[in-house]
Amino acid sequence: MVNSEFFYQKGYQEFRLDKLNFSQDLIRNKFKEVISDKKHDSKWLYKYKNTKDFELQSILDEPFLFDLLFKNEIDKKINSLVNKKVFLTNIQYRICYKGLSYMTWHRDTYIKKSKIIGPFLPCYKFLVFPKLFEEDSKEFSIITETHSRLNFSFIDKYFSSFKLNKKSFFCGNEYGVLMDTTTLHKAEQSLKDIPRPRIIYNFATQETIDKFYQNERSKTFIDIHKKILN
Ligand SMILES: [Fe+2]
Repeated sequence: MVNSEFFYQKGYQEFRLDKLNFSQDLIRNKFKEVISDKKHDSKWLYKYKNTKDFELQSILDEPFLFDLLFKNEIDKKINSLVNKKVFLTNIQYRICYKGLSYMTWHRDTYIKKSKIIGPFLPCYKFLVFPKLFEEDSKEFSIITETHSRLNFSFIDKYFSSFKLNKKSFFCGNEYGVLMDTTTLHKAEQSLKDIPRPRIIYNFATQETIDKFYQNERSKTFIDIHKKILN
């Protein structure tokens, strides 16, 4: 099956990070330091339980987060996979700690009482779960093929999580996963006492951006991407 058919059917696609990734000691150690550096607490936002997120400025100050994406030409790979031109609308660098998941089964866009909640047409997320420490950890799960079944009842949603088409992703430095944001997904909980980072890149088409991404934060990322393309 060619990749675009696979993505269209399943709602996800793994991409290798072969030009730049988190395997190099220099990069791994730098990001380990960032996580454990108590002196720079102002770099972080505390958005969800058991997690912390880089402030916008901390992301902009970290070129590696952009290089990881653009040197591996992930934007171009998404364009050819979905046959649309997409732009970067956000980057989140989030660290999860021991404890319950900050986000259980959900879609970023869904239908409630015949109304679409969240941005549409489909948006995309590219997720990387760097392995900075020795331990392996399960980070993220999706229920494949659920992106084309938006009109899902509450009961269906929970039953679907018991089906065999659950796919889980573990931390790793050489690949990331692209997801249609209408696919059912969740962040996994962990009982391990290690910080577990993730980078979440958001993409949308110009049409979706015009309707849903007119905030200052999104404009910052869209401008950076457009400058890189020119
Ligand atoms: Fe989500």
